[in-house]
Amino acid sequence: MQSLYKTSHLLDTEHLSHKELNLIFDLARKFKNNDTLGTHRGTNVGFLFHEASTRTKGSFLIACKNLGINVLDLSPQNSSFVKGESLVDTAENLIALGVNLFVIRHNQSGIMNYLSEKIDVPIINGGDGMHAHPTQALLDAFTLIEHFGSIENKKVSIIGDIKHSRVARSNIHTLKTLGAEITVIGPKTFIPIGIEKMGVNISYSLDTILESDIIMALRIQKERQLSGLIPSFSDYASCYGIKEKHLTEIKSEAVIMHPGPVNRGIEISGKVADSKNSLILEQTTNGIFIRMAVISLLLEGNL
Ligand code: CP
Repeated sequence: MQSLYKTSHLLDTEHLSHKELNLIFDLARKFKNNDTLGTHRGTNVGFLFHEASTRTKGSFLIACKNLGINVLDLSPQNSSFVKGESLVDTAENLIALGVNLFVIRHNQSGIMNYLSEKIDVPIINGGDGMHAHPTQALLDAFTLIEHFGSIENKKVSIIGDIKHSRVARSNIHTLKTLGAEITVIGPKTFIPIGIEKMGVNISYSLDTILESDIIMALRIQKERQLSGLIPSFSDYASCYGIKEKHLTEIKSEAVIMHPGPVNRGIEISGKVADSKNSLILEQTTNGIFIRMAVISLLLEGNL
């Protein structure tokens, strides 16, 4: 359906060009260097987090505070959502209260695409079901560019439950746009049929990480294990967990990433998460500046 409105949103990374990615990264860099602060005083941002979050919500809150923005944090348990009010009605009423932009996390894939047809203020997708997590992919790419300078032709391994991962999907789009070569790794039950059409290689062996410049482990979502996709956590950890021994086998300059929250001892060992190769906490910190940049660009109509 064609949108009634001309408002821009950030719902996925699929449609972001290399030029738009650079626009976001350049502004994030300025914010990181403290060039511009408090530029949106008086603006109201509505937070609708229908799923738990530490990093995404925390960094969006700090991003808004740094920009002088007021936050209306209406978690479902504290709002009239518990009385049955729909997401569209909630959003329209918050707009009537003066909300200028929404940050939403939801367990239903695509729900923000639906909402974007109904309202005319920008929406930032903070993660929707298995669909997309655009700001995670942006902060991951920003962290990598900061580290390597460029990720053109870098070999990236993404390991884990690719099938159900919004982080994997958003990262594949962004890293491909930036010229990286991507291999997805995992047991067959975690690799979606047809994923190669996204321009990625497939491997069922963790040995592939030995040739990689960038090793990105995904969180094992415990609810999936219950549906029988893997025999057990320990079985997964033994075949696909990144362990201390890998630190001596991978390229010495390779970096290890994880979007969090980390299940230490399953997809990645504590020693690996805390190693000198790990960029995990840099990823978290950079979330603030990427989110400041995306909020600013959308409020100014520049994205
Ligand atoms: N990476 C990420 O989305 O973490 P949170 O669920 O803690 O926000």
